[in-house]
Amino acid sequence: MKILVTGASGNGGQAICHKLLEAGFSVRMADVMPPAGGVIPSTEFMRCDMRSPGDIQNAVNGVDAVIHLAAWHSAHQPPVSDETIFAVNVDGTFHMFEACRKFGIQAIVYASSMAYGHGSVYGVTKVIGEDLSRAYHEMTGASIANLRYHEFIPRPYLEFGARLLRNGVDRSDVALATVAALQAVIERKIGLFTTIVHTHHGMPEAVIANFKELGPDWCELMVPGSRELISKYQIELPHTVEQHDLSEAERLLGWKPRVGFVEFLRDLKIRDEQGEDVHSLWVPSELPE
Ligand SMILES: NC(=O)c1ccc[n+]([C@@H]2O[C@H](COP(=O)([O-])OP(=O)(O)OC[C@H]3O[C@@H](n4cnc5c(N)ncnc54)[C@H](O)[C@@H]3O)[C@@H](O)[C@H]2O)c1
Repeated sequence: MKILVTGASGNGGQAICHKLLEAGFSVRMADVMPPAGGVIPSTEFMRCDMRSPGDIQNAVNGVDAVIHLAAWHSAHQPPVSDETIFAVNVDGTFHMFEACRKFGIQAIVYASSMAYGHGSVYGVTKVIGEDLSRAYHEMTGASIANLRYHEFIPRPYLEFGARLLRNGVDRSDVALATVAALQAVIERKIGLFTTIVHTHHGMPEAVIANFKELGPDWCELMVPGSRELISKYQIELPHTVEQHDLSEAERLLGWKPRVGFVEFLRDLKIRDEQGEDVHSLWVPSELPE
């Protein structure tokens, strides 16, 4: 099957395209520009501006399913204007759904965000995107998954680890959730389904609620030496851990996250024992995917 990935040259898009190829799909990448490192081998690249209905129709024509990632978000540096965020995220998503209706696409994954509904133009664009998902599901019967990704913007390794306890998620989990959602919409296991895509630490409730006090003991139990690592690398612990119920996603998509704070601590321990300078590392690309 051939899958169109919009916004395919971005941080999430490239990881998702690699996972799609591994899963045996043909991939058409669509973006305003090719990936910085060049087009991924074995994929087709199509230049496409989501604000142009003709561009997106050309991109959708001939594929079996669509993963719609193309969007600007609020964390780009230098910043993208709210006008452009609105035009690409809202008009672009509308044009994508219209093209899917025109070409009879029945399997769609839409990249929403944890910023859904929060106080920014970007957050509003994801509300409208999910509303469009619902409307097109009702109008066309397409099977659609809305994935509210948590944060996977590239950042220094130690910050990445600490952020997993808050709103962070590893990019490989984002990619695996997206491919699992794609398989579910292709197989029509879901009609319209919305889920958060975040990490999961498997912590007892009491530890989640009082991580600052109980967390270091729990981490020590899971990964001996953690207490010392947390102190040595000055990892700032939150009072409470952000944790969502992801059981519906596991039941319906067969997906559950793989990289949590414990996996980060295991990785940090190995690097520490090898005397590596972790201060210069960045994620993604440093943890095994
Ligand atoms: N990165 C995160 O932490 C995060 C969190 C929640 C949701 N999301 C969502 O996930 C999706 C992917 O995010 P990402 O981090 O990979 O973003 P990214 O900025 O790395 O990639 C977005 C891609 O969209 C492309 N694009 C921009 N304008 C376009 C246009 N007019 N037409 C076609 N392509 C265009 C860009 O060239 C870029 O390659 C987005 O929808 C984003 O809102 C990301």
